[in-house]
Amino acid sequence: MDAKQNLANAIAPLCGMDASAILDWFEVPKKAEMGDYAFPCFRLSKVLRKAPAAIASELKEQLVLPSGFSKAEAVGPYLNFYVDTASQAGSVLQKVLSEKENYGSSKIGSGKTVCVEYSSINIAKPFGFHHLPSTAIGNALYRIYKFLGYRTIGINHLGDWGTQFGKMITAYKLWGSKPIDDYSIRELVSLYVRFHEEAEKDPSLNDTARAWFHKIESNDPEAMELWAKMKDNTIREVKVTYHRMGIDFDSWAGESFYEDKMGAIIQELRDKGISKLDQGAEIVDLSEWNMPPCIIVKSDGSTIYATRDIAAACYRKQEYDFCKSLYVVAYQQDLHFRQFFKVLELMGREWVKDCTHVNFGMVSMEDASFSTRSGNILYLDDILQAAVDKTYAIICEKSPDLEDKQSAAESVGVGAILWSVLYNNRIKDVSFTWDKILNFDGETAPYVQYTHARCCSVLRKAEDFDFSSPDASLLDDPYAQTLLKALDAFPAAVLSAADKNEPYVVSRCIMSVASAFNKFYYEQRIMADDPAVKAARLALTDATRQVLANGLNLLGIQAPERM
Ligand code: ARG
Repeated sequence: MDAKQNLANAIAPLCGMDASAILDWFEVPKKAEMGDYAFPCFRLSKVLRKAPAAIASELKEQLVLPSGFSKAEAVGPYLNFYVDTASQAGSVLQKVLSEKENYGSSKIGSGKTVCVEYSSINIAKPFGFHHLPSTAIGNALYRIYKFLGYRTIGINHLGDWGTQFGKMITAYKLWGSKPIDDYSIRELVSLYVRFHEEAEKDPSLNDTARAWFHKIESNDPEAMELWAKMKDNTIREVKVTYHRMGIDFDSWAGESFYEDKMGAIIQELRDKGISKLDQGAEIVDLSEWNMPPCIIVKSDGSTIYATRDIAAACYRKQEYDFCKSLYVVAYQQDLHFRQFFKVLELMGREWVKDCTHVNFGMVSMEDASFSTRSGNILYLDDILQAAVDKTYAIICEKSPDLEDKQSAAESVGVGAILWSVLYNNRIKDVSFTWDKILNFDGETAPYVQYTHARCCSVLRKAEDFDFSSPDASLLDDPYAQTLLKALDAFPAAVLSAADKNEPYVVSRCIMSVASAFNKFYYEQRIMADDPAVKAARLALTDATRQVLANGLNLLGIQAPERM
């Protein structure tokens, strides 16, 4: 149980208060030598009609100190409490080492469902660097919620519908040189680029494209087959990239999935008088909320992105009965989300309050040689590969004897990229330099992974030594104490990350564990001569290894044992 609660339970009866009423009164003294918790007795002086200092010293006399505390001291108007470091150390160690990979997990989500929509790439378009934040943040949130006991549904809301597919088919019919199955994403992208170049010269191509899209919409077999194959090719290819990042989805229902689900929505909007006709289009007027209208049906009769999002939100509620539905999408779409959430609210879907646009800032690349490659389009795959190659070179230098350098380079290179968008407040723009993200001594994934591998290496050296019943009172040096505090903070960090939808709370927490461990490692000999001290320090090392592994796992980052 929580230390503050124990103190409140012990003090409350002595002053005729409820424990719950005084729970929030506790403060943390500014100076460590003043103890770990302070109880401000002046808040009682009116009720008890005594001077605060007198209350403090009387309470001290009467109080039975709860377990987990070593002493209480009355200092002026305060009663200060000192945590019994040995017993605290013991309970943290014991908790981590017994719960293992479940340390930090919880059951608060059991029986509840969270939908997490992330990555949501577009078919026949590059899986670009700009998709990195959505992909990495969404995957981390998916893992964090799962760890807290929620049923989680990961959704890739594919951009697989729209007039661009008419353009793609037109281009393929005119300039395609091999079966559509053989087209890679990059080749499909060049067809698309060529379409736009040629349509500048010959605008009638746009009419052909519209006609082809119309054929898709009306289920023409040839059009459908070409569309479906472009989609298959894209999915096959992006799955390789997702696999590299350890990412998968429970649902790949993209925009096209809602084609037959929009009719009911459009009808409901009409029936309830929420939409209205405006120059041939059907719109929902949102001027009352200072927003431009949300277009539902265009004047040519076609639906748009927003219509599909309204249908998708309703479908997710019906299908999954979520308690939260998250959309990990760039802040550029803030207005779009505010608009369609408002339309859902006007439709009486009170659950829209559980839908959250989890937005994020921009990523940019400072490596000029990179951004000019392939016509300004940065493919995520190229970036992952470059990171792995650069990491390989670093590992060759740092650990020439390592056996499987390639697999370590893969885990660390990919981890460095993911971490770069998981270490700050989401909304902060990230500008990306190789030196920064691959710095093994910086605030990076490689640093945390390296620390994890260091713990594993220490533990390997002590393989035959039994440290299963450590005496935690021997971990009384300040380095071990700081490390224990960092380990203790992990479960709360996981909860807070979910509460804020901010994975950085977890990455910052394990960063502080890693740096506390390294200070401990440099200042203290883990393999101490005294076997009892050695056992305690090895147990602490094992607990550190566990927390780093759990944290990295929540972020979707590998924790190699050797590097
Ligand atoms: N495919 C879109 C894009 O790349 C993102 C989709 C976001 N999700 C949504 N439900 N609107 O811009």
